[in-house]
Amino acid sequence: MSHARITIDRDYTIADVPRRLFGSFVEHMGRCVYTGIYEPGHPLADERGFRKDVLALVKEMGPTVIRYPGGNFVSGYLWEDGVGPADQRPTRIDGAWHTIETNAFGLHEFVDWAREADVEIMEAINLGTRGVEEARALVEYANHPGGTYWSDLRRSNGAADPFDIKLWCLGNELDGPWQIGHKTAAEYGRLAQETAKAMKLVDDSIELVAVGSSNRGMPTFGTWEHTVLTHAYDEVDYISMHAYYQEHDGDAESFLAEAVEMDAFIEGVVATIDAVKAAGKHTKQVDISFDEWNVWYQTGLDTEDQPHQVSKSWRTHPRLIEDTYSVTDAVVVGTFLNSLLRHGDRVRIANQAQLVNVIAPIRSEEDGAAWRQSTFWPFERMARLARGQILRLAVSSSQISTKRYGDVDAVDAAATWDQETGRLVLFVANRSLEESNDLTIDLRGLGDLRVRQAETLTVPEDGDRHTANLESTQDAVRMVPLAGVGIEDGSVQATLPPLSWSVIELG
Ligand code: AHR
Repeated sequence: MSHARITIDRDYTIADVPRRLFGSFVEHMGRCVYTGIYEPGHPLADERGFRKDVLALVKEMGPTVIRYPGGNFVSGYLWEDGVGPADQRPTRIDGAWHTIETNAFGLHEFVDWAREADVEIMEAINLGTRGVEEARALVEYANHPGGTYWSDLRRSNGAADPFDIKLWCLGNELDGPWQIGHKTAAEYGRLAQETAKAMKLVDDSIELVAVGSSNRGMPTFGTWEHTVLTHAYDEVDYISMHAYYQEHDGDAESFLAEAVEMDAFIEGVVATIDAVKAAGKHTKQVDISFDEWNVWYQTGLDTEDQPHQVSKSWRTHPRLIEDTYSVTDAVVVGTFLNSLLRHGDRVRIANQAQLVNVIAPIRSEEDGAAWRQSTFWPFERMARLARGQILRLAVSSSQISTKRYGDVDAVDAAATWDQETGRLVLFVANRSLEESNDLTIDLRGLGDLRVRQAETLTVPEDGDRHTANLESTQDAVRMVPLAGVGIEDGSVQATLPPLSWSVIELG
């Protein structure tokens, strides 16, 4: 048995919980839109073609904001193709995912769906093949009340009221050579600055996200952010981060420690933002939009799943990167959520990529069922329970040894305190594959709390760390009660199972 101790003081806070931290992502890629959220003809589709079974799972999972329509896809997308009478919309080649895009689903459909799902929209514009003019036209189309060319076109397309989209991404991964319209940092920095300026001249209430590095391993990581922000600091509000992680060669210990790398990545971007802020004598604060993160098994990908491979056949909504997630993946996702929450003072938006089918917590089959993957659970629990203030924790834990990151804490934690409801919620992972962890939580000034609920996601009795939720076993991995959690003399005692992510709710 290993041991850990967490000391909590409700006066040691990091920030308010940014509710946009629990975001997701819908890209026109694979089966995320088509046969994911939208499938006219499915027995459970409504009159607009929205799958009600998928929508119910989305509402249960509780994302607060959804990025749309890409991703790599957006860098070649013409937004005008997706508005107007559906039978007159053009069918196009999507070069990013070598797919045929019918444009049956577009901006109006997404706005309707997002309203139904009760999520905020985060709209990405094409800065790969397009520029200032198309971007400002889109803001006018979406947000201007009426009486102008683009806003009247929206009205004639059936939307009298503006969509009022506040959050906009200035392109996607333009530092990446795979991206349609890949740019140098200087080229992108200037374009982002001018596009941002023009968009805010149409609607000055919008918030803008500049493209950061596609991942920490990019050769331009650091200098990209520095150059882009040197140009566009005054015009933008956030810089993006993207990161995908996977288990390599059965090295589960290192995989379970990847949140250490996520922590370092975030802290590196914060340092770069602040260096530009200091050098430019700026007073305003630019923050981070971590608008793509997840577990994604990228090695051994089918050639047809790689961006920009010429397809042997052009397909509509092919199966692309439909990863099946295990108990191990769900625990790692739980630690990523912990990392994001711990950095909630600077990471103010985050989007798990993606929402349905494509590396997603929700799976659906064409003309068939929809179900929750293992990774659904940590997202759902944290999105629902993380309220109020994020607490700064003092954690002292036994270590696990990893090939990639040396010795790391076996216990990874984050917590929130909600003054209004008097609830304290802890999110705690035990990274050890073999050993339980005897956890003591010293509550200091919060000693009169009681345990409301304690639950864990861990290896099921009849399974192993690879167990996953399949169509035939949809509930194999889920949250189960964590037995034996008690409070004595102002301290919580809990035993965390090996390989687990737990939620302890006190109130
Ligand atoms: O989420 C899948 C892809 O990953 C996105 O299209 C792209 O932005 C990233 O490389």
